[in-house]
Amino acid sequence: MELFIDTAKVEEIKEAMSWGIVDGVTTNPTKLAQAGRPFMKVVEEICHMTPGPVSVEAVSTDAAKMIEEARRLASLHESIVVKIPLIKEGIKAVKVLSAEGIKTNVTLNFSATQALLAAKVGATYVSPFVGRLDDISHHGMDLAQQIRTIFDNYGFQTKIIVSAARHPLHVLEAALMGADVTTMAFEIMENLFQHPLTDRGLEMFLDDWKKVPQ
Ligand code: E4P
Repeated sequence: MELFIDTAKVEEIKEAMSWGIVDGVTTNPTKLAQAGRPFMKVVEEICHMTPGPVSVEAVSTDAAKMIEEARRLASLHESIVVKIPLIKEGIKAVKVLSAEGIKTNVTLNFSATQALLAAKVGATYVSPFVGRLDDISHHGMDLAQQIRTIFDNYGFQTKIIVSAARHPLHVLEAALMGADVTTMAFEIMENLFQHPLTDRGLEMFLDDWKKVPQ
């Protein structure tokens, strides 16, 4: 399973890239606002520091404007995947963009039938926001599992990005159910390294090493 980092903060991307486990980056308007730097500059920097795909969101809400915006975003760098919201106009836009070979990430996905629509128009990725469903007492990972089943039933090539992951358990469940990607905040990715037994074991080994005759 690929691991994407969900941030527009270049210092976080740089640090996580140094760990050797990052396959791509996802951003959204909120992450870009949090980064607080000029849009074009941030996008350019992220694309240059990441070998994998970089999702950048289109903010138009009618198909013709989304298509125009997506073409412009895609022309900025070969790594760019255009995020398109899962609304009727978005699905219409993705149909055209798929035919043009422009990569898309259909975002704000909260039902399996919505994801089916994204797959039918050839979206490169679909992003079920599992954590936001958990936030309102629905099992977000059930959605990801349903999408996996549907895509496997019919051989859809659209990749599933488990999104809005809130903790390492989401990452574990995503990997167990065969999601293609999980995208997560810097802190969650960093948490994947953590285990108290690893820390305690290392401390013990380093102490014992001092007792080994040299
Ligand atoms: C996915 O691509 C989105 O950026 C995302 O995961 C949003 O998550 P949030 O609910 O943590 O904002």
